[in-house]
Amino acid sequence: MSEANNSAYDLIVIGAGPGGYVAAIRAAQLGMRVACVDRAYFGGTCLNVGCIPSKALLDSSHRFWEAKNKFSHHGIKVGDVSLDLPTLLSRKDQVVRQLTGGVGYLFKKNKVDGIIGQGRIVSPDTVEVKAADGTKTLKSKRILIATGSAPTELPGLAFDGKFIVGSTEALSFNPVPQRLLVIGAGYIGLELGSVWSRLGSKVHFLEFTQSVLPLMDAELSSQLHRMLEKQGMTFQFGAAAQKAEVKDGKVHVTYKSGDKTDVEVADRVLVATGRRPVTDGLGLKEVGVQLDPRGYVKIDDHFATAVPGIYAIGDVVGGLMLAHKAEEEGIAAVEVMAGMAGHVNYRTIPGVVYTHPELATVGLTEAEAKKEGHEVNVGKFPMSANGRAKSMDDMEGLVKIVGDAKTDRLLGVQILAAHASDMIAECVMAMEMAASVEDIARTTHAHPTLPEAVKEAALAVEKRAIHI
Ligand code: NAI
Repeated sequence: MSEANNSAYDLIVIGAGPGGYVAAIRAAQLGMRVACVDRAYFGGTCLNVGCIPSKALLDSSHRFWEAKNKFSHHGIKVGDVSLDLPTLLSRKDQVVRQLTGGVGYLFKKNKVDGIIGQGRIVSPDTVEVKAADGTKTLKSKRILIATGSAPTELPGLAFDGKFIVGSTEALSFNPVPQRLLVIGAGYIGLELGSVWSRLGSKVHFLEFTQSVLPLMDAELSSQLHRMLEKQGMTFQFGAAAQKAEVKDGKVHVTYKSGDKTDVEVADRVLVATGRRPVTDGLGLKEVGVQLDPRGYVKIDDHFATAVPGIYAIGDVVGGLMLAHKAEEEGIAAVEVMAGMAGHVNYRTIPGVVYTHPELATVGLTEAEAKKEGHEVNVGKFPMSANGRAKSMDDMEGLVKIVGDAKTDRLLGVQILAAHASDMIAECVMAMEMAASVEDIARTTHAHPTLPEAVKEAALAVEKRAIHI
């Protein structure tokens, strides 16, 4: 039954993930009357079943691994270390509850109407929302699509929610699978593979290309590969998973490697081969919003779709599928709507893989810079020569800085190190401010800190690093 609702909004955001909820709050700050509709929960994939719970698990599992493998080296005796998986999982759930509750609080504080229900665009100024308490028809001057992405299913390896799963179910395995097969050695595979390996799984990867993180700097991804192998994970490259069958509680995965076909047997299989845009049930075709051949919503430079008044941002428009990219797009889109100069600098969006050590990047890799026609200068600094890393007993990895040889402009930074996710921040800022490599080299860095390795890599560009 449809119930007319006369409240007219300036903006309805569909999707309450990091792109959508941040856009809704910014729009409210700019004086708009805003509703944010989500079919499942506030906080989207990132807060509920993505970035946040996976980081909670990565942190807990790293502590467990350190207690077992590193404490004795520091002179700390803890006796037999054992795992309390239910407590570990419920701490993760608690972190999620606190953060998603925080989004609800921010909506209230900013007078955004947060609505749980399935949204469908019925015309450029009307959204129909099927909620638990009935169907509502909401009117708005503008609509912002921020519906995000979902895991891609491989033909032949359909998710069954138990044996063959995507990232959501892999956040809650209980008990720890004895043998976990991960299809795809990208962001999700490496992070969740690391979690279960640290907690005791024998983790094996089938990866289609010839390396982990095939799009990252080859030197760093090959070093990370070696480090993950040292931690006990195993990898088969050039392997395309084709089908899976569950027999007697085990999953048999058939894969092709060259002209050979082989089978891997595991207790659980995590398929992490990418994500697809979510547009189902939104009514986009009927209203005239165009999709590209891969299903992403087509937008112009101002996040506008082909239909006046309808905009889109985040994973659903393609590009880097990262929460912080969606956030920046959400803010820029509503600022454009408000007549401001909203803009996203796509050259300075950092990417982080939260393995141990972490791999963080911003800007161009050496290979990409050369491909773009730059003559490049590269400076490197190993973490083993950094005093703080030594004192922390976390010396794996390196910092690599790519500068333009003619102008000294900073083009990109790649960091493989413990806490690389924090170290990359100053590099992002430097790139945003159009810094030269020399600017970093001449910036005082506190001693002893991990970011000194960034300064030293900048110094190494001019072959004047002090500590190597
Ligand atoms: P991904 O694109 O990072 O990696 C997928 C991997 O699967 C690729 O290496 C690909 O070569 C491989 N592959 C594809 N088909 C295959 C097959 N049939 N057999 C074997 N290997 C195959 O995708 P992933 O890890 O699923 O992540 C999806 C998105 O989520 C990423 O684009 C990432 O941006 C985002 N994400 C970001 C995180 C972060 O910022 N830390 C964490 C997790 C996800």
